[in-house]
Amino acid sequence: MTVNIAVLVSGRGSNLQAIIDNVENGRIKGAKINVVISSKAEAYALDRARKHGIQAVFLDPKRYEKPEYDQAILNILESYKTDLVLLAGYFRILGSEIIAAYRNRILNIHPSLLPAFKGLHAQRQALEYGVKLAGCTVHFVDDGLDSGPIILQKGVPVLSGDCEETLAERILVQEHLIYPEAVRLFVEGKLKVQDRKVIILD
Ligand code: GRF
Repeated sequence: MTVNIAVLVSGRGSNLQAIIDNVENGRIKGAKINVVISSKAEAYALDRARKHGIQAVFLDPKRYEKPEYDQAILNILESYKTDLVLLAGYFRILGSEIIAAYRNRILNIHPSLLPAFKGLHAQRQALEYGVKLAGCTVHFVDDGLDSGPIILQKGVPVLSGDCEETLAERILVQEHLIYPEAVRLFVEGKLKVQDRKVIILD
């Protein structure tokens, strides 16, 4: 059986690209990315989707009240019989109805070692705090901000002389490895959520 994937984006879509590549090269087997939904018209992620023959939809937040916007997303997810929702640089908070409808079936990538540095500008927060180890986290999405059960994490060193851009770049390399890996584990049925812990049955 194929796992139907939908990806929500707002920007450049490099994580989306990493997942597309892993589906195309067969590392992620038994999955299909059916649709990419963007909250920004100019998101490069939309071009990436089209280049790979994936339906690309721009949903303009200005045209909806928040509950209607989330309902519109939900309608698209349902119309593609979506099994798994991936947030990949999606700049909005997901509505609680979507989270409830897709409990333990929504993944997000965050550029910090959660639970440190939730929310915006995680790399800047890490630099300002002075940590020596930064990194990224793939987690299930729950009702809180970047608070759901953690699936995979990868640390990267903070080097003297780092600025936000250099640190973000070093973290991004790892994001492109652990996000597709987490998707593979999900698709292969190897993730089991127990309270707030994720057991990996690999
Ligand atoms: C990544 O740093 C990701 O961790 C965060 O937003 C950024 C998205 O980058 N959630 P991209 O659009 O995947 O290139």
